[in-house]
Amino acid sequence: MRRKLAAGNWKMNGSIPGLDMIGKLKLKHPECPCDVLICPPAPLLAPALNNTAGSPVQIGAQNCHAEEKGAYTGEHSAAMIAEVGATYVIVGHSERRAAYGETDAQVAAKAQAAQAAGLTAIVCIGESLEQREAGEALDVIKTQLKGSVPEGSAGKTLVVAYEPIWAIGTGKIPSMEQIADVHALMRTELRARFGEDADSMRLLYGGSVKPNNAANIFALGDVDGALVGGASLTEEDFSPIIEALAAS
Ligand code: PGA
Repeated sequence: MRRKLAAGNWKMNGSIPGLDMIGKLKLKHPECPCDVLICPPAPLLAPALNNTAGSPVQIGAQNCHAEEKGAYTGEHSAAMIAEVGATYVIVGHSERRAAYGETDAQVAAKAQAAQAAGLTAIVCIGESLEQREAGEALDVIKTQLKGSVPEGSAGKTLVVAYEPIWAIGTGKIPSMEQIADVHALMRTELRARFGEDADSMRLLYGGSVKPNNAANIFALGDVDGALVGGASLTEEDFSPIIEALAAS
């Protein structure tokens, strides 16, 4: 049985006062049957962790470097993320792939570093609108999945997030059939590569998940949760998504 995951990606948003929402989530979902994760910007990791005592909310980072340490100004390693007490790290988000040219191989190296440090890597993949319209979405997903997920991944150390680039921050989402097709493909590909370990790997959908569409998305087979951007910033928006996941 896969434990469902509601993950919030704050991107470059949030503040110390905004971390109050973690305490509110704790009160609202004291015994949540799902995993709940907030990924704030790196400077807020430690303060966020101060808000999670006795709470089901876990904290993750949004990026890590593939190397353990060294002359990489502005970067942080997976071991550093683990050392402060965070348990997950997002790697290969399409915003980073676009802005910093991160390749599948670099994303796989980051995921491997995260796993070696004891973190769970949330590997993001997803097609562009152009690729979707050209009928290439499933091929793109296959290639990205193969190239971005490192060898040795297991259910404890790997989550894959399918995030169509054109659905991120736009209010648009694919049809339920399109989401189901991609998730079924990802499960089949992971099974071919990792055998029955693939059955414990969680597959998230991400891109404009909101309180009003979450239940329909979570009803789909092989959707084990969501990676939520804008709607994870406040308790008022994120709570109904957590509730929809818990009820699915
Ligand atoms: P969104 O972002 O929910 O604001 O579309 C999702 C993401 O980028 O992870």
